[in-house]
Order: sequence, then structure tokens, then C-alpha cells
Amino acid sequence: ALPRDLEGVRVLISAGGTREALDPVRYLGNHSSGKQGYALARVAAQRGAQVTLVSGAVSQPGDPAGVEVVHIDSARELAEEMTARSAQADVVIMAAAVADFRPVGVAGTKIKKGAHGPAPIELTTNPDILAGLVAARSEGRIPADTVIVGFAAETGDDDGGVLDHGRAKLRRKGCDLLVVNAVGDGRAFGTEDNTGWVLAAGENGEAGTETGLPYGSKTLMASRILDQVAAALPEH
Ligand code: C5P
Repeated sequence: ALPRDLEGVRVLISAGGTREALDPVRYLGNHSSGKQGYALARVAAQRGAQVTLVSGAVSQPGDPAGVEVVHIDSARELAEEMTARSAQADVVIMAAAVADFRPVGVAGTKIKKGAHGPAPIELTTNPDILAGLVAARSEGRIPADTVIVGFAAETGDDDGGVLDHGRAKLRRKGCDLLVVNAVGDGRAFGTEDNTGWVLAAGENGEAGTETGLPYGSKTLMASRILDQVAAALPEH
């Protein structure tokens, strides 16, 4: 049986990819099966948490059981849901693959094939939702003891390279925990198995910790990630 160590803990999770509309039929997006975020939602609920999953585009058979699910399309919709809901969360996990850019304008009708070839697409930058949540917490709009977790898919020539990128990202984003996955060479994306580390920010100038994740299913990864989340929670 799973531990009920997250009984009553309110967990807000984002998962899947965002879709940035170009016109009524086309979008820009990124690959994301949603597997890791859905596994986190399912396992957290099984461990007693009260889970809300804000889901972009995924290839999952259906919504996880025992979880409140909100479906969104774009990064800006995701930002709105996460920002509004994080004030009532004890834990916020940003597992979504957010598109960094979106088209400047959305055409009202389907873009035609131009006589002179394709027209360029002008892009603008989407908000960094994770960084925005950390800023909202330091400004008091999210409770100070809310645990904020980010994800990073990093490529590197070796584990050292991946971890170095992960540590730098943890500092840059200012979240409490960062789940680092090694990607490239067919790893992580859409696969059953996954591996990586959970990096924890050090408190009061202390060095942070890093915990290796076992090689295994995304359900097993979810359990180990949630162990670190449970350890980071204030007494409950
Ligand atoms: O900077 P990078 O995209 O590698 O950071 C990944 C982390 O930041 C993930 O937790 C992702 O959900 C989050 N993110 C975000 N808003 C963005 C881009 C990424 O919240 N615009």
C-alpha cells in the first residue's frame, strides 16, 4: 500500500504541452505526452493529496481518477489558471512543456498558401510561468511556505553537464525543487521510462541537495519526486 503522507495536502500540477494558435486550424507546440505530470497527479491523489491538474495537450487515455482536471490550450491560459489557483495550493508542480514563443497575431481565417511561398511567422515571448509563481510568492500573493517545483529537460555530454545546467536553472528560476531529466538520444520524451535527479535549493546560504531518481517507470519517478516534495513541506 502507498503511504498516505500527502493526506489533505493541496497539490496543483501542470502537464502536457501548450498550443499557440496561428489561425483557426494551426498551432505551434512542442512534444509532450503528459505522462510524467499525469503520473504525479495520480500518485499524489493515491497518497491522499487533494489534486488539481491543469492539462494542456497530451496523449493520455483519459483524465486520472480522483483528480480535478482543468483543460487549457495556450501558455497564457495556463499562466492564468496556475496563477489564480496557486494561492490555494500547498505544492505547485510545473511539469507542463510551455511554448516559449507564440505568434504575434492569430489570423481570423485559415492562412492561404502565398503566391510567393510561405509568409514569415512573427513570434513574441510567452511569460515564464514558473518564474512568475516564484515572484508572486516573494510578493506575498502566494503563501510563503508554498513549495514550488520546476522541471528541466537538459541535454549534456555526460551527467555532469546535465546537472550543471540543472543547478544553474534552479538558481535562475528560484523554485524550491527542480526535477532534472537527461534528454536527447531518445530519452524521456514519450517513453515509458525516465531518469534524472531532484535538486533542492539550499536554505539560508546552505548548499542544496541532489537526489538521484531510479531508472524506471514514470509512476516510480512520480513516487520518488513526491517523496522529495513531502520532505520539503512544512509540518502538516
Ligand atoms: O527554461 P525551461 O523551459 O527549461 O524551464 C522549464 C521549467 O519552466 C518547467 O518547469 C516549465 O514548466 C517551466 N516553464 C514555464 N513557463 C515557460 C517556460 C517554462 O513555467 N514559459
